[in-house]
Amino acid sequence: MAEWFAKENCHISTHPGYEAFSQRAAALVVSLLAGILEEKDAAVFVPSAGKTSTGLYRILYEKYRNALEWDKVTVVQMDEYRGVSCTDPRSMAACLHKHLVSPLGVKEFVHFNDDRGNLLSNFSEYENSLKDRGGIDLVVHGIGRNGHIGFNEPGSDWSSETRSVDLAASTLEANFAGQDIDLRDALRTGVTLGLGVLTKARHAVLLLSGSHKSEIVRRFFQEEPDPGIPASSLSMNDEVHILVDRETIVGVEELIGGLVDIP
Ligand code: GLP
Repeated sequence: MAEWFAKENCHISTHPGYEAFSQRAAALVVSLLAGILEEKDAAVFVPSAGKTSTGLYRILYEKYRNALEWDKVTVVQMDEYRGVSCTDPRSMAACLHKHLVSPLGVKEFVHFNDDRGNLLSNFSEYENSLKDRGGIDLVVHGIGRNGHIGFNEPGSDWSSETRSVDLAASTLEANFAGQDIDLRDALRTGVTLGLGVLTKARHAVLLLSGSHKSEIVRRFFQEEPDPGIPASSLSMNDEVHILVDRETIVGVEELIGGLVDIP
C-alpha cells in the first residue's frame, strides 16, 4: 500500500456490498455536513454525478431528508459535458438536480451550463464564486476507470484550474455504454473543477465501487501518488475518507486486507 494511506487524516473503510457501502457513505456525508453547519451555518458541497453515488443520494433522501437544514447547503457542480443544456437528461446538472438538489430541497445549485448549453460564467468567475463562499467544505468523488476524478483525466496537473478538457475514450465508453455513437461524438469535451481547487476541499470522500474498477483501485492503493492517477491527488486534501465496496476488491484484497468490514 502507498505510504500516504497511513496518514492520520486518511480514513479507509470497507463494506460488504453496495447497499452497506451506500448506507455508510450517507451517514458519513450527513455527519460531515452537520459538523460544518454547526460551525458556520452554511456548507458548500461538491457531489459526484456518477452512477456510484446514486445509492448514497437515494439514502440521503429516504433516511436523512429531515436530519439537516438542506436549504443551508449550497451544491456546486464538479463537472459537466460541454454544450449540453442543464435540463438535458444526459447532463450531469440534470442528474444532480433529479437525485439530490430537488428531493432534498437544496436552494442554491451552482452549475456550469444554462438551458441552451452555454456556460453561465467563465471559469475564473466560477472559481471565484466558490472562493466567495469560502471554498469547498465537502467533496464526494467517484473514480473513473482510468483514475480520473471530476473530469480531470490522467496527466492533469495537481494545481490545474477549472477548465475545458478533452474526455478520454474510456470515459466516454464508461459513461455512454450502450448509447448511440453520435451522442458520444457530441459530448467528447467536458468542463471540470481543476485539481488545484478540489485538493483544497476541507473534507474529501472517495467512493470505490464496481468490479470493473478493480484494476484502477489496485493501482490507486499500490502506487505512490502520481498525476497518472488523478485520484491520488487526494493525498493533498486535509482530510480524506475512502469507502470501499468489498466487491470491488475481489482479487486484490491483500492490499487492504488488514481492514475490517463495517457492516
Ligand atoms: C465520471 C464523472 C465523475 C465521477 C466518476 C465516476 O466520469 N466525471 O464525476 O465521479 O466518473 O463515475 P461512476 O460513478 O459513474 O463510475
